[in-house]
Amino acid sequence: MIRPQRNAYRDAVDLSGVWRVRFDPDEEGEAAGWAGGIGPDASHDIAVPGSWNEQLAEAGYMNYVGPAWFETRFRAPQNPGRRVLRFGSVDYLADVWIDGRHAGASSAPMLPFEIDVTELTAPGAIVTLVVRVTNLLPVDGPMQRVTREDYLRENRRREEYLPAVRFDFFPYGGINRPVHLVTRPEAGIIDYRVTTATDGRVALCVEAEGGDKLRATIGGAVGEAPLIDGRAELTLTVPDPRLWSPADPHLYELSIELVAAGVVVDEVGQQLGLREVRVEGARLLLNGTPVTLTGFGKHEDSPIRGRGLDLPLLVKDFQLLKWTGANSVRTSHYPYAEEFYDFADRHGILVIDEVFSINLDFRKVGPETLVLHKQAVAELIARDRNRTCVIAWSLANEPGYLGEPEYRDQSEPYWEALFGHARALDPTRPLTHANVAYAGIDDPAFRHADICTINRYHGWYSEPGQLDRAAAALRADFDAAAQHGKPVFVAEFGADALAGAHATYDQLFTEEYQADLIEAYWHEIAAHPAVIGGHVWNFADFRTAQHGRRVIFNLKGVFTRDRTPKSAAWRVRRLWTGK
Ligand code: GCU
Repeated sequence: MIRPQRNAYRDAVDLSGVWRVRFDPDEEGEAAGWAGGIGPDASHDIAVPGSWNEQLAEAGYMNYVGPAWFETRFRAPQNPGRRVLRFGSVDYLADVWIDGRHAGASSAPMLPFEIDVTELTAPGAIVTLVVRVTNLLPVDGPMQRVTREDYLRENRRREEYLPAVRFDFFPYGGINRPVHLVTRPEAGIIDYRVTTATDGRVALCVEAEGGDKLRATIGGAVGEAPLIDGRAELTLTVPDPRLWSPADPHLYELSIELVAAGVVVDEVGQQLGLREVRVEGARLLLNGTPVTLTGFGKHEDSPIRGRGLDLPLLVKDFQLLKWTGANSVRTSHYPYAEEFYDFADRHGILVIDEVFSINLDFRKVGPETLVLHKQAVAELIARDRNRTCVIAWSLANEPGYLGEPEYRDQSEPYWEALFGHARALDPTRPLTHANVAYAGIDDPAFRHADICTINRYHGWYSEPGQLDRAAAALRADFDAAAQHGKPVFVAEFGADALAGAHATYDQLFTEEYQADLIEAYWHEIAAHPAVIGGHVWNFADFRTAQHGRRVIFNLKGVFTRDRTPKSAAWRVRRLWTGK
């Protein structure tokens, strides 16, 4: 999927700003005609991008789950060509109207979608854009909506969160990433795929219409290929290639031009690093060299903005990632904003890109679940397959979380189909998923994954306060996972710590215990030949839905929510940099 670009042939107007929003708990908005305009009554200012929860907490919408109607007006550009609305994502689903006429809808949650509005917007006209957003998840998707009735019916009252969720983060609602009004040629470059090799080869496969050849340039190399049946393939070789890595994240400028009768009619481009990633035995190789992953699981979460794109926070977080000596991040537990990957490309942070699927409950998995899970995988790969920083895809986090026997008994065909689908879409990157202890170390998904990834909390949810027992249990997990003959990776380990809480002995929730647990895990990770590294859970404290075991936030961050370092931040810095 081509990102919004501004050049001689394309433009992108950012519609970020203060919109209006009107909440619709009784779902009366469509009948009331809000699609044509939400009206002045009962509406509120809302910043886009931004979640409504903290912005409008005082108006009563902190915990709101349901439909909300957003409205803004914009002037359609005069540029010739197609006019396309492009949403970076919404949380989680949306329908879109222009001047009261339905224009289209979102697809997989938390991924971009485009709606061609050329016929609905005359050049230069001022139009009303209305977007109905809901943060109520679909029932059948890989996210499987959960309701308070589920907790009652399943006698899981003690696990109930407010709002009702099946995951340990806050279900923010809103238009959380930028919205652009893109103009692009009537006929032009539709999409492309690029793969790179350490010898400098850059292989391009381009889909386009309205021209007769493609021309590409990168790093002094130039190539051309005819457009045949809407496709062109060409390979360039960059002379004396400077490879991309965490130590040297060198990026080249790739340009792709569509030529018609000798005249350039469209162009797209991106920054691109030359690198290769693959699994070999129990090792992960970057540019042919084994790499040990140091880093974190994160969340998109910040004060007031909620999950809304927060550029100053991204600048800060990448400074802090480098300060700790991290070389990688998993986008737990959903695709992040495209701007995140721009920073990762520039800073040399390796990214495990994760699909939005948490705690998949196999008592409730049906044919539609796999269909929508495959769609979410396909859309994530379509968005990020040209990203230098993305080194692997994670297809799910902690399925089988409840330890339901259906997971062990029924899930292998599901994973065989899903991993096969992902591998066919992108054979160039390893695949994984994050295993929860309740799903067992003989997790059916491990048979289809390229990397055996585990989340473990020995010393926290089990063996609390007993780091020796925790280390022994972790070693046993490593030895068992290594039986699969694949690399083992620990995507989550950590402990909550209240900043300022201290003890002279092992005490849960103290800064010392969090740091000591992380160091104990890292000692085992570094010692085991099949383990390729680990990600501390979590980079920073983050808001969760309300639950008796959460003090407003999940406090496993090595940084607080406002990015103040706890003792654990200094400890991982010493472990990973020696400083
Ligand atoms: C799980 C889950 C995380 C959660 C963490 C925790 O492993 O993947 O989303 O926040 O445990 O309980 O802290």
